[in-house]
Amino acid sequence: MCGIVGYIGTRQAQDVLISGLSKLEYRGYDSAGVAVGDGACIAVRKKAGKLANLQGELAGAPLPGTLGIGHTRWATHGLPNDTNAHPHATEDGRIVIIHNGIIENYLPLKEGLTARGHTFKSETDSEVLAHLIEEAYKGDLYEAVRAALGQVRGAYGIVVTHVDHREIVAARTVSPMVMGVGEGEMFLASDVPALLPYTRNMVFLHDGDMVVLHDDGFRVTDLAGNELKRDIEHIDWDAEAAEKGGYDSYMMKEIYEQPNALTNTLIGRLHDDTGQVNLDIDLDPASFKRISIIACGTAYYAGMVGEYLIEQLARIPVDIDVASEYRYRDPLVSEHTLAIVMSQSGETIDTLEALREAKKHGAKTLGIINAKGSSMTREVDDTLYIHAGPEIGVASTKAYTSMVSAMLMLALWLGRARGTLSEDQSRELLHAARELPRLVEASLTPERVENIKAIAGKYADARDFLFLGRGVNSPTAYEGALKLKEISYIHAEAYAAGEMKHGPIALIDEHMPVVVVATESKLLEKTISNVQEVRARRGKVILVLSEGDTENARYGDDVIYVPRAHELVSPVVNAVALQLLAIFIAEKLGKDVDKPRNLAKAVTVE
Ligand code: F6R
Repeated sequence: MCGIVGYIGTRQAQDVLISGLSKLEYRGYDSAGVAVGDGACIAVRKKAGKLANLQGELAGAPLPGTLGIGHTRWATHGLPNDTNAHPHATEDGRIVIIHNGIIENYLPLKEGLTARGHTFKSETDSEVLAHLIEEAYKGDLYEAVRAALGQVRGAYGIVVTHVDHREIVAARTVSPMVMGVGEGEMFLASDVPALLPYTRNMVFLHDGDMVVLHDDGFRVTDLAGNELKRDIEHIDWDAEAAEKGGYDSYMMKEIYEQPNALTNTLIGRLHDDTGQVNLDIDLDPASFKRISIIACGTAYYAGMVGEYLIEQLARIPVDIDVASEYRYRDPLVSEHTLAIVMSQSGETIDTLEALREAKKHGAKTLGIINAKGSSMTREVDDTLYIHAGPEIGVASTKAYTSMVSAMLMLALWLGRARGTLSEDQSRELLHAARELPRLVEASLTPERVENIKAIAGKYADARDFLFLGRGVNSPTAYEGALKLKEISYIHAEAYAAGEMKHGPIALIDEHMPVVVVATESKLLEKTISNVQEVRARRGKVILVLSEGDTENARYGDDVIYVPRAHELVSPVVNAVALQLLAIFIAEKLGKDVDKPRNLAKAVTVE
C-alpha cells in the first residue's frame, strides 16, 4: 500500500510532507522518510516505525528547503528498518526516489546494475529504480525516469527529484496518485486527505500517466512521451468524506478498492513463463501429510475456499476449524501437519491461541495475514501476507477476497511442488488468477452496481434470507449470509445447495428470498435443480449467474450477472456481488455499515 507526498512551492516542504504523511499513515506505518531539496543538495531522513519516530528526529534538526518528497511504508521487499525505508538516493545523493508498489523483475535488473558497477544499500526492489534512472540520466530527469520505467515490470507510484532540477517527476500504474494545484505551488499524494489543508483543486492521475511538477504548473504525458490533457477537479469533500474517498462508508470504499487490493496480493508472485508461484515461504511442501486451516468468521470462510482449492490442486487432506473450537478439541497434530492460521488483523485471540495449540503439538505454522507485525506474524513459522492494505470497515470485504486469492496461490504452489499439477494446468490457473483484478473491476461498473442496488431495495424488508451455493462457492454463500446479517441485522443462513432439502427447505415460502450462487460450474445443473425446489415452494429466487447465461435466468425472480470467471477463481468475483447486496440492503435500512452493533474490528477477547 504505502503513502507518498510531494511538494514544490514557497512553503517549507518538510511541514507539508509531515502533515500529508500524517493523513496517509493508514496506508502503512512500517517506516517513514522525507527528502528535502534546498537547491544545493537533497537531504534525506528516514526512520523505521511510525511517523512519530521520524518527527522526533526532525524536531532536533529540521530540513530547510521548499521542494520535497515523503513516504510512509507498508513493507513488501525487505525488512521494515531504517535502511529499507524510503526515500532511496543514488550513491552520490543527486537523485532521490520514492516508490509504491512492486517491481516484479527487480532481481535480473539488480544483477545487471550490480555487474555494471552499481552498489545497493537496501534490500528493496525500489532501489533499482534509483540506479536505472541514474544510468539513463543525460541531463533530462523526465526522460531518464521514462527510460527507467521502460525497463521495469510491475506496479508503481514513483516520485523522483534531482539536485540540479527544480522539479518533481512522478508516474503511476496501479498505485493511486492525485496532484494538488495551488497558486505558485504544486502537491502530489497517494490520497486526497493529504492535500485538503492546502488545495481543493486536484488532478487524478490515470494508470500509465507521467507528470512533471514545477512551482507554477504541471505537464502530463503517457509513458511513450505523448502529451495528455488531464482536467483539474474541484473537490468539496469535508475531511471525513475525503478519508472515505468520497464514498459514504469505509466499507463501500473498501469494496471498490478490491481490484487494487487483489493486484497487490498477486503481484510479483505469479510466473506465467514457468507456471510457478513464488510465495517466498520458507517451508518444505514435501514434509506435510495434512493441513489444518484455522480461522474465525469471514477469514474462516476464506479458509473453506482454501480447503477446497488445496485438496483439488495439491491432493493433500485438509481439515478446517473455527479457531474457538480447534483450541479446545484436542486436535490430531504432528510434525507432519501444516497449520495455517488466517486473519486480517493477526490479533484475533481465538486464532492466536489456536496457533499456539498447534505449535505446542509440533505443527509447522503459516499465517495468511493482512496486518504487518501483528501478534500472529511474530509467532508463525512463516507468513504469506495478503497486502490488502488497512481495512477499516468492521465487516471484512477486501481482506476476504485477498485471502481467497492468497489461498489459490498457496494451492498452486503446493500442487506444483508436489507434482499434482502439470505446468499447463498451472498456467491456466495462473492466467485465471491474473484476471481477477480486471474481473472485479468489471463487477463494479455502474450498471452492475445499480442492478444490485435495485434488487436490494426490493428485498430490504425481508425478515430472513437464505443463501445457497455449491462446491467452491458454498463458502461464498456462507460469506454472503454473514455480510448481510452483520450489517443489516436481518437473519440470514447459508447452506450447501444440496443440503437444503435435508431440513432448511421447511422454511421456504413466498416471504423467503433465497440467494443462489449459480455461476458456471460443473455442478451448475444440480444447483439449478435446487433452485427449482425453492421455486416449487414459492420462495423468491435471486440468482447470481455468469454473464450471458440467459438460459438459467428464467428461474430467477431477479438476476445478478457477474463477469465470467474460471470456476476456481469465481468465489472472489461472486463475493463482490454479495457484498454489494448486503451493503445496499443495510443502507436502505439506515444502518451504520462501518460500525455494526455489538461488533469490533479485532476480537481480542475470548
Ligand atoms: C466479518 C468479520 C469477522 C472477522 C473475524 C476474524 O465481516 O470481519 O468475522 O473475519 O472476526 O477476524 P480476523 O480476520 O481479524 O482474525
